[in-house]
Amino acid sequence: MDPRTTFPASTGTVRIPKPETCELCHGLGWVSTDVGKSRMCSCPKGDWEARKAAAIFLRSALIPPWFHGFELDTYPDQKSAALKAVRRWVAEYPKRKRSLLFWGVYGVGKTGLAVGAMRALTIKQPRPCTFLSSTEFLRKLRATFQGGPDADAEIEDARDAHVLLLDDIGAERGTDWATKELEALVDYRHGLGTVKTTIITTNGTLRQLADRMGVRTADRLLEMCAVVEVSGPNLRERGAKGESGQ
Ligand SMILES: Nc1ncnc2c1ncn2[C@@H]1O[C@H](COP(=O)(O)OP(=O)(O)O)[C@@H](O)[C@H]1O
Ligand SMILES: [Mg+2]
Ligand SMILES: [Zn+2]
Repeated sequence: MDPRTTFPASTGTVRIPKPETCELCHGLGWVSTDVGKSRMCSCPKGDWEARKAAAIFLRSALIPPWFHGFELDTYPDQKSAALKAVRRWVAEYPKRKRSLLFWGVYGVGKTGLAVGAMRALTIKQPRPCTFLSSTEFLRKLRATFQGGPDADAEIEDARDAHVLLLDDIGAERGTDWATKELEALVDYRHGLGTVKTTIITTNGTLRQLADRMGVRTADRLLEMCAVVEVSGPNLRERGAKGESGQ
C-alpha cells in the first residue's frame, strides 16, 4: 500500500503508514486478548486500524463543520498549560478521571481543545462519540415535546454515547426547565462516570457554573471530571479562521 495514501474523513485526514508484518498481529493490526476479545496492536498497522476506526466514529459524531480538523496538534498555543494537561489526561486515560471539564473565558479555545481531546481519545480507544452543544440539546428536546421532528433517537444516542462532548454548558438562558433538563443529563452521565466519558466546556468560572447550574450539578461535574482551566488571549480575535465560529 502506498504510505502516502490518505483516508479522507470530514473530520480530518488520516495518514496510512506502510503496513509491516508484525510478530504480534501478523500484519492484521489486531491481537486477540481473550476468547472473542481483541485489541489494537501497538505496531504501525494497529495504529492505522485505530485511526481508521476513529475516523469513522468521528465522522458520525456530529462535530460542527467549523471544528473539523481541530486537533491537539493544531491548537494555536502549543505551549499552553491546558494543552499539556489534556495530553497528559489522554495518555493516562482511563487511569485518572474519565471525564474532562474545560472552563475559561470566551474565545480561549475551550471547544477546540475539547474536540481535540475527543479526537485523541477516540484514536486511543475507538468508540462512538458525539458532539452536542447544550443549546442544541435543549432545542432538540423542546422539538420533541412540541411534536416537531422526532429528535428522540438523537438525544438518546447522545445521552448514551461512549464519549459525549457537551459544549457550553450554562450558556443557555436559565429557565427552570432548561436547568432541570441539563441537570438530568449531567446526573445520567455522572451515573455512567466509571465506564463512559463526558467532555464538558463552560464559559466563565467554576463559581459561575455553580450559579447557573446549581451547586449540586456543579459538584457532580467536579466529582467526575479532571478540571482544566483554559486561559490566554482571545484566539478568535486573531482571525485564524475568520471572525465567526462557536
Ligand atoms: N484545536 C484547535 N486547532 C486549531 N485552532 C483552534 C483550536 N482550538 C481553538 N482554535 C482557534 O481558536 C478559536 C477559538 O476557539 P474556541 O474553541 O471556539 O474558543 P472557546 O470555546 O473558548 O470560546 C477558534 O475559532 C480557532 O480559530
Ligand atoms: Mg466554545
Ligand atoms: Zn502488529
